Amino acid sequence: MKLLTKSLIAGLVLVAGVAFAKEGVQDPTVKARMDLMGTIGMNTKILGDMATEKTAFDAAAAQGAKDALIAASADIAAKFEPQATDPVAEAKPEIWTNWDDFVAKATTLNAAATALDPSSLDTVKAGMGAIGGTCRDCHTAYRM
Ligand code: HEC
Repeated sequence: MKLLTKSLIAGLVLVAGVAFAKEGVQDPTVKARMDLMGTIGMNTKILGDMATEKTAFDAAAAQGAKDALIAASADIAAKFEPQATDPVAEAKPEIWTNWDDFVAKATTLNAAATALDPSSLDTVKAGMGAIGGTCRDCHTAYRM
């Protein structure tokens, strides 16, 4: 339980970072991958707010956020493949030298989102730990 809370908090802290990074982004490829991460952040926040009981549990909204996370995580490899740069980008160059590992981490998020059962508050709580862990894992390795 303690562990679950920790990963949730880590996930939510990441979400809080969104507004700053994108300000002033010029490169359209970088903007597209940031927007994708923004979508991931937004949907993780929907689930995270339910799991921490900041918002009321809503099975349809949880299902929607789950579906959005599955779709967005499946798009990470395509959006990050071109090695575009921008003064405000936070992507480390190691993404492209360790490409297979980066893609594997995206796949892990996709699997965690797929595994989340959106039908009850308890199952959302149970599934969020794994999702939050994948954000932290990839950001630690590949985000400045
Ligand atoms: C496979 C690796 C990977 C995974 C998994 C991942 N991220 Fe990211 N994320 C990145 C990278 C790399 C960046 C920096 C992109 C850039 O600045 O070009 C980033 C940036 C972000 C940003 C900032 C976007 C912006 O506008 O600058 C948010 C928010 C974010 N991620 C949320 C999440 C959340 C929430 C999760 C987990 C549900 C997650 N990410 C999972 C790699 C990942």
